Amino acid sequence: MDALGKIYSTTTVVTMKAGKKLNGIAVAWVTRVSIDPPMLAISIGKTRYSHTLLNETGRFGVCIMKPEAEELVSLFGSKSGSDTDKFLGLDYELSCSGTPIVPGTLAYIECVTKGKTDAGDHTIFVGEVVYQKLFDDERPLLYGEHKILNLDFRD
Ligand SMILES: Cc1cc2nc3c(=O)[nH]c(=O)nc-3n(C[C@H](O)[C@H](O)[C@H](O)COP(=O)(O)O)c2cc1C
Repeated sequence: MDALGKIYSTTTVVTMKAGKKLNGIAVAWVTRVSIDPPMLAISIGKTRYSHTLLNETGRFGVCIMKPEAEELVSLFGSKSGSDTDKFLGLDYELSCSGTPIVPGTLAYIECVTKGKTDAGDHTIFVGEVVYQKLFDDERPLLYGEHKILNLDFRD
């Protein structure tokens, strides 16, 4: 284990609709960056198909995932939307803007992209929160030690 592995974060699926194309990508590098207005930052690898789509659309959804959604997160984090429809057979819903919300989401936050910053092999997309919905008041699936962490954590 290295020191970077000790940075823990929330496991999410970031979703987008670019034209008619829906896609989602497992993202652990997500954080709040402003209170007023509320803003988030996500870091997306430049080789990801989602990187292309996020550059096309000015909006993204952040699905904060339930612990039991680990398998779904692995699907969104192992296949590329360039050659797979990750939503095929999934019982997902759409937000008012048509951005997908994946099953197993405990909280959903939708953002409009306000800025982009180059970060090595990733781009940081900064988004302003335009809509949020809490589906279940429970603890999310975490990410740390370079893997998904399904922790049974208590108060
Ligand atoms: C738990 C988990 C977290 C991940 N976090 C990120 C991340 O923060 N940023 C990123 O660019 N890729 C991340 N990935 C990798 C992408 O999800 C993966 O490469 C995905 O298949 C890209 O899909 P796309 O080509 O459809 O965009 C993560 C994967 C997993 C399993």
